[in-house]
Amino acid sequence: MLGKRSKMFFGISLGALVVSVILAAWGFPKIVSKQIQKNVQIDNSSAMFEKWRKMPMPLTFNIYVFNVTNAEDVNNGAKPKLQEIGPYSYKEYREKTILGYGDNDTVSYMLQKTFVFDQEASGGLSEDDEVTVIHFSYMAAILTVNDMMPSISGVVNGALEQFFSNLTDPFLRVKVRDLFFDGIYLNCAGNHSALGLVCGKLKTDSPPTMRPAEDGKGYYWSMFSHMNRTPSGPYEMIRGRDNVKELGHIVSYKGKRFMKNWSNDQYCGMINGSDSSIFPPIDENDVPDKLYTFEPEVCRSLYASLVGKSSMANMSAYYYEISRDALASKSANPDNKCFCRKNWSANHDGCLIMGILNLMPCQDAPAIASLPHFYLASEELLEYFDGGVSPDKEKHNTFVYLEPVTGVVLKGVRRLQFNIELRNMEMVPQLEKVSTGLFPLLWIEEGAELPESVLQELRQSHTLLSYVEAVRWALLALAIIAVIVSAVAVARSGLLPVWPRNANSVSFILSPHPTSDINKVH
Ligand SMILES: *[C@@H]1O[C@H](CO)[C@@H](O)[C@H](O)[C@H]1NC(C)=O
Ligand SMILES: *[C@@H]1O[C@H](CO)[C@@H](O)[C@H](O)[C@H]1NC(C)=O
Ligand SMILES: *[C@@H]1O[C@H](CO)[C@@H](O)[C@H](O)[C@H]1NC(C)=O
Ligand SMILES: *[C@@H]1O[C@H](CO)[C@@H](O)[C@H](O)[C@H]1NC(C)=O
Ligand SMILES: *[C@@H]1O[C@H](CO)[C@@H](O)[C@H](O)[C@H]1NC(C)=O
Ligand SMILES: *[C@@H]1O[C@H](CO)[C@@H](O)[C@H](O)[C@H]1NC(C)=O
Ligand SMILES: *[C@@H]1O[C@H](CO)[C@@H](O)[C@H](O)[C@H]1NC(C)=O
Ligand SMILES: *[C@@H]1O[C@H](CO)[C@@H](O)[C@H](O)[C@H]1NC(C)=O
Ligand SMILES: *[C@@H]1O[C@H](CO)[C@@H](O)[C@H](O)[C@H]1NC(C)=O
Repeated sequence: MLGKRSKMFFGISLGALVVSVILAAWGFPKIVSKQIQKNVQIDNSSAMFEKWRKMPMPLTFNIYVFNVTNAEDVNNGAKPKLQEIGPYSYKEYREKTILGYGDNDTVSYMLQKTFVFDQEASGGLSEDDEVTVIHFSYMAAILTVNDMMPSISGVVNGALEQFFSNLTDPFLRVKVRDLFFDGIYLNCAGNHSALGLVCGKLKTDSPPTMRPAEDGKGYYWSMFSHMNRTPSGPYEMIRGRDNVKELGHIVSYKGKRFMKNWSNDQYCGMINGSDSSIFPPIDENDVPDKLYTFEPEVCRSLYASLVGKSSMANMSAYYYEISRDALASKSANPDNKCFCRKNWSANHDGCLIMGILNLMPCQDAPAIASLPHFYLASEELLEYFDGGVSPDKEKHNTFVYLEPVTGVVLKGVRRLQFNIELRNMEMVPQLEKVSTGLFPLLWIEEGAELPESVLQELRQSHTLLSYVEAVRWALLALAIIAVIVSAVAVARSGLLPVWPRNANSVSFILSPHPTSDINKVH
C-alpha cells in the first residue's frame, strides 16, 4: 500500500519535472518574448506605440559652427584658422503622421521635426551672434558650374555676385539664426545677363535648402529650415507583429525600396535598418554585430559596430559605435566604391580619401559629409588648417546604448559635419588666390537620452522579468526536489534497488521507519 503511494508520488513528481523542464527551457521564454513583442510592436494596442508616434521628450539638436578668424589672409592664400563656436542648442520634437498600414506588416508615415532654440542649453550664445563662415551655397553654385563648364565660370560668377549680394570673397558674414533656419536673401532682380539663367534653373528645380521669397524676386537659403518646415517621407516601416526581429526596419522611402542615387548600385542603394528611433529587441544568443540605420539626409544606410556589453543608467546595455570602415575609402572597404564615383576635387578622386562622403549624387550639390573634425578620416585633411580642427573620439564619434530586452535606445548620439571644397579658380576674382582644400561649415549633434520616468518604467519591467525568471527556476527546483524525495520514498519501500546499509547516513535520516530497521538488526 505504502509502496504504491510512493510510486504514484514518484510518477507525478517525474511528470512535474518534465513539465517544468519544458516550461523553463521553452514555455517561459516563449511567453515572455510574446509579452515583450506585444508591448514593442507598432500597433495601437502596444505600450510603445504612442511613444513611437510622438516622442515623449525632445531630442537635443546641437550645432557647432566653424568661425573663420583670418578670412582676409585666406583670401590671399593663407591656411585657414578656425574657431569652433557652439553648441547652439535646439530642442527637436518629432511627430509621425500615420498614412496607413500595408499588407506585409508595414506602416507608412510622414515624419515632422520641429526645432525650438534652447537658450539655457546654449549658455551665453545667442542666435544673433555674427559669424564668418565658408559661403556654402555660393561655393556649391560656382563648383557646379566649374565642374560642368570651366570656361564659363568667370561669366556666371558675375551673375552670382548679384545673386549673393556683397560677394567680395568666398566667406559669408551672417547671423547664426539666418545660417541655420531663417535664411539669407538671394536676389534675382539684378541686370546681369546670366542671372536669368541661374534663377530660371532654380525655378524649375530648387534645392531643399532654398525657398522662394514672398516678394517673388528671390530666394532664402539656410541649412536646416526645410527640416523645420516640411515633413519628410513617406517612410514605410515593418511593425514587428509577424516577426519582431524585423521591427522598425525601413523598407521604402518616398515610395522607393532602393536608393537609385548611387549610380543604381546594388550594394550602395540598399535601404537597411531603422530610422534610429526604434530597434528590435536583442536576442542575447545572437547579438547583431552591426546596427543599421537609414539616413535620408545622406541617402544611404550607415551602421554602428558592436563594441560590447556595457551598462547605462543601472541597466545592462549593448554599446555600438561608428567604426572606421563605415565611411572608409574604396581601397579600405571595396564595397564603398559606389559612394564615391565622382571627383570631388581636381586633385582627388573622391574614392581615395578615408572618412568622407560625397553628397553630390544625393543632394545634387557638391557638399561633402564627414564626422566632426574629420574624425576617422584621412589625416591629410587636417594639413589644410592652421588650427581649429582636431578630432577627438569622445566629442566626435557616433554611438548608441541599446537596452536588449526591448531594443529601446537608452542613450544615443549621432554626429555629422558638412563641408565644401574651397577651390582656387583663376577666372573668379573671389577665388583667384585661395588655396584649394576641404572646408568645414558646421557640424550637428543629435542626441537622445531617456528621461528618468521612462528609465524607471523600464527598470520596473526588468524587476518583473527577474521575478518571472525566479519563478521559472523555482518551479524547476521544486520538481527536482519532489523527484528526489519520492525516489527515496520508493527506494525505502523496496521497489527500487536499495542503497547499501550504513554506507550513507542520509538514507538513515530520510528513512520513514528507522525503528523497524533497528529492529531487524536485532
Ligand atoms: C487601432 O488600429 C486598428 C487598425 O489596425 C483600427 O481599426 C482601430 O480603430 C485602432 N484603434 C484606435 C483606438 O485607434
Ligand atoms: C567670429 O570671428 C570673427 C573674426 O573673423 C569675430 O569678429 C567674431 O566675433 C567671431 N564670432 C563669434 C561669435 O565669436
Ligand atoms: C509583400 O511581400 C511579397 C513577398 O515578399 C511581395 O511579393 C509583395 O509585393 C509585397 N507587397 C507589398 C505591398 O509590398
Ligand atoms: C550688402 O551691402 C549693403 C550696402 O553696403 C547693405 O545695406 C546690405 O545689408 C548688405 N547685405 C548683406 C546681406 O550683407
Ligand atoms: C546694372 O546695373 C548697375 C546699377 O545698378 C549698373 O551700374 C550697370 O551698368 C548695369 N549693368 C548692365 C549690364 O546693365
Ligand atoms: C544591408 O544589409 C545586408 C544584410 O544585413 C548586408 O549584407 C549589406 O551589406 C547591407 N548594405 C549596406 C549598404 O550597408
Ligand atoms: C544606480 O544604482 C546605485 C545603487 O543602487 C545608485 O546609487 C545610483 O544612483 C544608480 N544610478 C543611476 C544612474 O540611477
Ligand atoms: C578625376 O579628376 C582627375 C583630374 O581632374 C581626372 O584625371 C580623372 O579622370 C577624374 N576621374 C573621374 C572618375 O572623373
Ligand atoms: C536622390 O534620391 C532622392 C530620393 O529618391 C531624389 O529625390 C533625388 O532627386 C536624388 N538625387 C539625385 C541627384 O539624383
